[in-house]
Amino acid sequence: MSAYEHDYPDHTATPGYAHGDEPPCNASSNPTFYDVVDARASRRGFLLGGLAAAVTGVFAAGAGSQARAQGAAQKPSLMGFKPVKVSVADTVTVPEGYRVQVLGAWGEPITGAMPAFRPGLNTAAEQGQQIGMHHDGMHFFAIDGSSTDGLIVVNHEYVEPRFLHAAAKGKELNSEAFVLTNGARDAEEVAKELAAQGVAVYRTRRGADGRWSVVADPRNRRITGATRIEFSGPVRGSAHLVTKYSTDGVATRGTLNNCAHGVTPWNTFMTAEENWAGYFRNAEKMPREQSRYGVSPKQGRYGWELAAGGADEFARFDATPKGASAREDYRNEPNGFGWMVEIDPFNPQSVPVKRTHLGRFAHEGVVFAPAQQGKPVVCYSGDDARFEYIYKFVSAKPFDAKTASGALLDEGTLYAAKFNADGSGEWLALAPGQNGLTPENGFANLADILINTRLAADRAGATKMDRPEWGAVHPANGEVYFTLTNNTARTQAQVDPANPRAQNQFGQIVRWREDGDDHGATKFRWELFVIAGNRATSRTFAGQALGEDNIFACPDGLWFDGAGRLWIQTDIGESEQNRGAVEPMGNNQMLCADPATGEIRRFLTGPSGQEITGVITTPDMRTMFVGVQHPGATTSPKDFAVGKLTSHWPDGQGAIPRSATLVITREDGGVIGA
Ligand code: FEO
Ligand code: CA
Ligand code: CA
Ligand code: CA
Repeated sequence: MSAYEHDYPDHTATPGYAHGDEPPCNASSNPTFYDVVDARASRRGFLLGGLAAAVTGVFAAGAGSQARAQGAAQKPSLMGFKPVKVSVADTVTVPEGYRVQVLGAWGEPITGAMPAFRPGLNTAAEQGQQIGMHHDGMHFFAIDGSSTDGLIVVNHEYVEPRFLHAAAKGKELNSEAFVLTNGARDAEEVAKELAAQGVAVYRTRRGADGRWSVVADPRNRRITGATRIEFSGPVRGSAHLVTKYSTDGVATRGTLNNCAHGVTPWNTFMTAEENWAGYFRNAEKMPREQSRYGVSPKQGRYGWELAAGGADEFARFDATPKGASAREDYRNEPNGFGWMVEIDPFNPQSVPVKRTHLGRFAHEGVVFAPAQQGKPVVCYSGDDARFEYIYKFVSAKPFDAKTASGALLDEGTLYAAKFNADGSGEWLALAPGQNGLTPENGFANLADILINTRLAADRAGATKMDRPEWGAVHPANGEVYFTLTNNTARTQAQVDPANPRAQNQFGQIVRWREDGDDHGATKFRWELFVIAGNRATSRTFAGQALGEDNIFACPDGLWFDGAGRLWIQTDIGESEQNRGAVEPMGNNQMLCADPATGEIRRFLTGPSGQEITGVITTPDMRTMFVGVQHPGATTSPKDFAVGKLTSHWPDGQGAIPRSATLVITREDGGVIGA
């Protein structure tokens, strides 16, 4: 057992650090994923040369899928496109015979007075009527089953103040930095940053010319870092949620750092709250429900608590106790974040709901198993921080298509995953009286367990993973896939650019099958689907190395289309992109995989400085929407000051870069990927 977390006293100095990454906060002694893989692969680890043996060892004990891969290899490929090459160009490339257009870029008006995009100059109120920044998880909600008319719901993960505010012009700022004046932040800028995060709902339709556009519609809506949101489930009304804003602990303002998403079996959207902890500060000794998540002891990530004028809506980001009780201050404000939030896109009047039974952590997203009449609703969610866990929720009540609603998510059992060395796995219930979660051990009741989900999983003995990101469930066989994006903090002693596996800069994808193919089961069988990297350091489960057509690093977004094609999106952090061990992978990209054979082909490459995140098709699978987040984020402070940006995508010609959604179609109108 290595003391991995302690290798870097300053987590921002670790290789692969990206703005917003939380500090490793897991001080428990649970085994890491690599301890388990190492054990299965004999003691050779992932050092170059030992990789093949290690991987073979891992897969040999798996669910027999090499034999399956050999059988499946006889069948025609799921993929009919020619792979695109790695790219470092400030543009989007797609395979021959495919077309791309840009839709719904940051700043495009969708509601209210439909204020036009004015780079750097829009007010906070205007930003609240426009598409937000930094597009992430996304879904297309077809209107009446249409494949040419629907509502896009898209998450806006975070902001880059330097692109958001005119006052940043000419200053040496990195992608996270902001401008302070006399130790305070401009309150209008803070309000605009809150308005640029959250979620956008907008209608889009395909025109006669085949192009898609934003359509004004009463359902178009922005949910931001300031929108009223209610709590539901076991933590609603708990003392942990009492604030000056909600003295009965039933509501809060805003959803933040909205990364990936989920779609419920009753057709609502779930938005995840990922790297929210750093937005808050607490100058006093922090309670465990803040320290275990990485609330800042100094200043919040964007210094929102420093907004001039001290308005309550901004001062709440300082959780330092100031009043006589929780009813008089914001000591509990951070407890209102780290949840999955349900939004009904078809009802613009609906108040979004934080579903507390799904646990509190750095939720990357959530993926639901296909609902079955009369069976519990099951969903999976990863906690994207180094050495954190994968979770699943199983509802207490069965799914009934006629009556199903978010209430199903308020009662059930939350589990954390334990991956055993022999290829078996267990789901550990995070419930009162189970797995050591007792009052004697510091877990007073279910609300206490859920507020402290990470600590409960520590106690239960879950397996520490390499930053779990998106999950996906195979539509036909129910296999569950999760991306583990990277974990450069694995051991400093093994850091070696030629042997990057030791510090895992590249990531991998794990998959498992629940016992009896029952998603409610408490046991499963797992194996690695692919270990990402270059030719020398990668392997698919079928024993193939990745090469020209498919090398990639840092898998993040993951989605199955209706035909069982697995779409993989990459997020090499902006401090690493196009250099060092990940230089051969070029700009972030999207690939397509055949889960039966392990074949992977590169489908798309993105512009400079961005990550590809968010993917969905229309029901007919002939139009695909893909997200491009933070183009230009690789611009250095010095270059920013002189207006030299690494990206001008999508507008070109010296324009400020903008996150946006790609619309991908085939010239022959065929199914995407086929
Ligand atoms: Fe927001 Fe873990 O990606
Ligand atoms: Ca992600
Ligand atoms: Ca990521
Ligand atoms: Ca990122």
